[in-house]
Amino acid sequence: MIYSMAVSCLSIAVALHLSVVFGLLCVPPSEGAITQLPPNTASQVLPCKFWNSTMLDCSARNLSSVPAELLPIATAVDLSANDIAQLTEHDFTNLPRLRYLNLSINVLLTIGNNTFRNLVTLQTLDLSQNNIESLNSNAFAGLLELEYLDLSKNSIISVPAEVFRDLGNLRQLSLFYNSMSVLPSDAFVPLRKVHTLDLSLNLLDLTDQ
Ligand SMILES: *[C@@H]1O[C@H](CO)[C@@H](O)[C@H](O)[C@H]1NC(C)=O
Ligand SMILES: *[C@@H]1O[C@H](CO)[C@@H](O)[C@H](O)[C@H]1NC(C)=O
Ligand SMILES: *[C@@H]1O[C@H](CO)[C@@H](O)[C@H](O)[C@H]1NC(C)=O
Ligand SMILES: *[C@@H]1O[C@H](CO)[C@@H](O)[C@H](O)[C@H]1NC(C)=O
Repeated sequence: MIYSMAVSCLSIAVALHLSVVFGLLCVPPSEGAITQLPPNTASQVLPCKFWNSTMLDCSARNLSSVPAELLPIATAVDLSANDIAQLTEHDFTNLPRLRYLNLSINVLLTIGNNTFRNLVTLQTLDLSQNNIESLNSNAFAGLLELEYLDLSKNSIISVPAEVFRDLGNLRQLSLFYNSMSVLPSDAFVPLRKVHTLDLSLNLLDLTDQ
């Protein structure tokens, strides 16, 4: 089982803080999808494929929650096109190098406080094409390096004034195709570096502004 070998090799590399040499010693398979594994290795194995040693493709796996075993060396995780309805504060605690997280095409209804708080290196967050109606005011707390945030094609009615407070590095924000009827002008104040803000296809009436 190449896949489980790669995973144990990876676990050992992580345990010994040898992730740097992992690329040399343990070449992950390009296609790692294996449906049956010996029971004693099941807990070590992710329902994901490796693009390469640090990038995980967990898309379209019918996942209803974020896998608990996401590897700490991961720099990119694609969880798009699953059935994830809820994120918890504990889902993304162990990913100190993550730069890319794709949660597009799931069934999220809301983003709770501090969901992404530990993702201090995250640059790209795609939450498009969910059913998000509301964002808690600390939904994006801690995302100090975030440059790209996609909230398009959701059902967001309004955004709390404080919600983008930590996003001083954001370049691109899309709220395209939501249900906002009021322009949340204060919310955008912290976004000093934004060059693209897409608010098209909402219910905004800008004639009185
Ligand atoms: C993994 O692949 C991506 C995209 O092809 C590349 O940018 C990245 O440098 C690769 N990472 C490693 C550790 O090979
Ligand atoms: C996901 O569920 C659908 C419908 O039950 C099934 O056809 C498909 O094979 C499943 N995909 C995976 C990757 O398990
Ligand atoms: C996220 O995944 C979706 C579906 O696979 C894809 O269309 C989209 O381009 C991805 N987003 C980013 C920012 O890469
Ligand atoms: C989220 O944080 C805000 C600000 O601290 C607080 O007012 C609100 O009650 C919190 N929401 C939840 C669901 O905990």
